[in-house]
Order: sequence, then structure tokens, then C-alpha cells
Amino acid sequence: MVKVSPSILSADFVNLERDIRALGPAGADYVHVDVMDGQFVPNISIGIPVVEAIHRISPLPLDVHLMIDRPLRYVERFCKAGADILTIHIEADTQENNLEALRRIRDLGVRAAISVKPATPAEAVLPYLELCSLVLVMTVEPGFGGQSFMADMMPKITEIRRYVTEKGLSCEIEVDGGVNEATGRTCVEAGADVLVAGSAYFKAPDPAAFVAALHALRK
Ligand code: DX5
Ligand code: ZN
Repeated sequence: MVKVSPSILSADFVNLERDIRALGPAGADYVHVDVMDGQFVPNISIGIPVVEAIHRISPLPLDVHLMIDRPLRYVERFCKAGADILTIHIEADTQENNLEALRRIRDLGVRAAISVKPATPAEAVLPYLELCSLVLVMTVEPGFGGQSFMADMMPKITEIRRYVTEKGLSCEIEVDGGVNEATGRTCVEAGADVLVAGSAYFKAPDPAAFVAALHALRK
């Protein structure tokens, strides 16, 4: 079954607890938490104390997407704050530092993940794959919710899927940005396992039906 990770960037922050508690009954699989530093991306969202607070009330595993510069500096703190999956961006530091960040995440018993921006090619993930339990392919430029889906990223998903299969790994492939039922179908056909949805989930008249429709894209 395809997994669904609603991005709380589109939640009502005044009612964050209510919106997060509702994700379990809606059938979601993960809670996608977007952390932005105003450096790696031109926006600032939430940080460590909010992740800690979300962890206390979340019915679901926390899928934390770090859009921050030089994440090695912070990965231990995000793990301790309660991340279940912790994703860093390939473009945010050197290969050496990124590998070290992924090792530290794993050493803390957290699922390590790497993400690629739209301009970064599929083969950039190769040095990291063995350390990762998930690869996140961006289908918008990171920084904001509600942008249009970039369908030209589908070959990248397929190529990363091929690497994972060829190497006999069990990494999940997650897609983030502009995902709704129609674009989610394209992602799943290309090889995605996990769909992040921010605005499409939070604007859905019936979030449970929306999640069920994404789950059904692949049984
Ligand atoms: C964008 C974030 C996304 C965002 C997705 O930088 O990484 O997770 O919340 O929002 P939608 O689904 O509205 O594109
Ligand atoms: Zn995200």
C-alpha cells in the first residue's frame, strides 16, 4: 500500500494539536514536519521545541524534513526531539559531512533519509543509499507549500527506484511537493512508496477519503 505523510506546513498552527491528532483517524501513515532555516530555503518554519511538542501528542511517526544548511550541526538534537525518520538535503553540505550526519542519525536508532532538490540528478543519491531507509524526491523547489507539481521529476523517481532494486535495498521512495490524487498517481506509477501532501490534504473536504484514495493507488 502507498503510504501517506500529510505535511503540517498547511495545518492551522493555532490548532496544531487538533490537526495532528486528526491524522491518525484519517488513516495517515506519517506526520511530515518541514523544518526551514531561512538559509537553505527562503522561508523559516518551525524548529526543535515544536518538534518536541508534536512528538508528545502525535499518534503517528514523525517524518522530519530538514531544509537547513549544514544539518550535521543539528541532527542529534532532532533525533532526541522525537524524529522517527530524519531527512537531510544532499545540497546542504559536503558529501563527507552528509555521510557523517546519516551515520549519527542511524546510531541514534532513527531512520536516516536523504533528499534531492529538482535540479539534483538521481545519481547524486548513490553514495548515500546504503545508509538510507528513505529517499525523498522533491517535485517543487523546497520552501513553500501550495506550489505546482513538476511532472518532469518522474524519470528521477524511476531511476532511484532502479538503484534501490538493483542494490537489493529496502529504502522507501517518498515524493514531496504538489501531490494530489492525480499527481500522486503519476508518482506511484514512477515508483514512489510514500506521498507527502500538504495543501491537498488540509484542503480536502474529507481528509480520510483523500488518504484512502492515495492508499488505493497501489495495493
Ligand atoms: C515544501 C515542503 C513540502 C510542502 C508540501 O518545501 O517540503 O512538504 O509542505 O506542500 P504541498 O503538498 O502543498 O506542495
Ligand atoms: Zn517537506
